[in-house]
Order: sequence, then structure tokens, then C-alpha cells
Amino acid sequence: MLPRTRRRRIYEGKAKVMFEGPEPGTLIQYFKDDATAFNNQKRGTISGKGVLNNRISEYIMIKLGEIGVPTHFMKRLNMREQLVRQVEIIPLEVVARNVAAGSLSKRFGLAEGTVLPRSVIEFYYKSDALGDPMVADEHITAFGWATPAEIDEMMSLTLRINDYLTGLFLGIGLRLVDFKLEFGRVIDENDNLRIILADEISPDNCRLWDVKTNEKLDKDRFRQDLGQVGEAYQEVARRLGIMPEASAEPLKIEQE
Ligand code: TMP
Ligand code: ASP
Repeated sequence: MLPRTRRRRIYEGKAKVMFEGPEPGTLIQYFKDDATAFNNQKRGTISGKGVLNNRISEYIMIKLGEIGVPTHFMKRLNMREQLVRQVEIIPLEVVARNVAAGSLSKRFGLAEGTVLPRSVIEFYYKSDALGDPMVADEHITAFGWATPAEIDEMMSLTLRINDYLTGLFLGIGLRLVDFKLEFGRVIDENDNLRIILADEISPDNCRLWDVKTNEKLDKDRFRQDLGQVGEAYQEVARRLGIMPEASAEPLKIEQE
């Protein structure tokens, strides 16, 4: 399904399209069904994913707003779109990890599922062409991607988000293994630059395992060809109590 094309398209990513918003300083974030993994090497479509991620991300961004985390989310417009504040995206992916999985397991030879001695925060440079390399603070400040104060702010927001979401997911029987965030800059009412949470939080960029069975309920089902991908996203929405009626039919996954 293609997004409506009347509005000016500002940016098209792998899972979302950003359109010009109705007011200056706003954008419309459209959630696609497209899924990619391993830096675009694996591609597919998970029908209904965009609808579910729009709802799941709305729910989580509202909850984070309630605990005082500033986010770009303004309101959900329809099944696939939400109104967000326009930000200047900081070209970093901020990953928080509680349990070893994915690239951390591979890098350090840690068995998947090993509980980490403490939560670990990592930064990656957002560049598809380079495969999102991991970077240190030194690279971030030397190349001007963010200032030391901005790095501190992203770290402290990420830790707060991790604490809050760990509890939220545990409450619905899910273990928050890891997740990825993106932040952006806005100018506040006093003309100061401020960092707010942008992008989305959904099973596309979290690892969520059932607490009892360790069943994976996230994009690893797509990455690892485990099947029942859409059903897993639906299950997360169902447990959060936000299952949208329109995606009650079975979801299908098609791979290119
Ligand atoms: P990783 O183990 O592959 O580094 O992924 C860590 C977390 O970040 C996992 O929840 C998936 C998420 N992630 C993204 O959302 N986008 C990405 O491009 C990558 C590499 C990971
Ligand atoms: N989102 C990234 C990609 O499209 C990586 C991933 O999520 O595995 O390739």
C-alpha cells in the first residue's frame, strides 16, 4: 500500500515516510509495512505492520511523555499516520541493552540470553552506506554529530526510558532485551536547543521476549525466518491493550 502522494514528501526511510505537516515545524510520519534487516540485505513486507507500529509507538510515546520524557509525538491522525514535531535528527542510533542478543552476542561471544551485569548504552553512526558502525564519544564530538552535553542528555534520557519501559513490558509478561532510539534537536520557547526523542518505539526496534517461554515477539522473527512475524507484533499490541480492530485478520508476511 502506498502513502497518499498529495503532500510533499520530505524523506523516505526503510519503514516510514515523512511528509510535510499541516503547520510549520510539524511533519506527518507514515508507517509502511516494509521490513528490512541486516542493513537492507533482507527485505520483505509484513502486512498490517505499519498499522500496529503506529499504535504501539503512539502508546509508548504518550506514556513516556507522561513521565516527563520530551518526544516528537503530537497525535495519531489515522491508522498509519501520526503528527510529529519536526526535529533536526542527530545522526546516531542509541542502543540500550539489558540482555545479550544480536550484534552484542556476536561481538563478544556472549550466549544469547545472558543477563548483562548492568545496562549498556551504545552509539552507532546512522549511515546505511557504512552499515551503521559503532562509534565512541570521541568520534561523535570530533565529527560534530553531537556535543558532550548532548551525549550526556541522550544517555540520561535513554537510561530513564530503559527503566520505565523495562517495567512497562514486564507488566505484560515481556522482557525488554534491547532497543534502539533516535533523538533530534528542536528550538524551545526560550530559543535554546533541546533534545527530544524522535522516530518510533515498536517491535521493529526493540527485542521483546515472553518472560515465561522466551518466545521472540519482535523483528528477530523476520530477521531469523522464525515465521508468525505479524502475529508477534499483534500479540505485543494485544498485551498492551491497544489491538486495533482493523488488523484483527491474520497478518501475512511476504519476502522478496
Ligand atoms: P543489534 O543487536 O543488531 O545491534 O540491535 C540492537 C537493537 O537495536 C535491537 O533491538 C534492534 C535495534 N536495531 C534497530 O532498530 N535498527 C538497526 O539498524 C539495528 C542494527 C538495530
Ligand atoms: N533496520 C536495519 C535494516 O534495515 C537493521 C535491522 O533492524 O536489523 O537493515
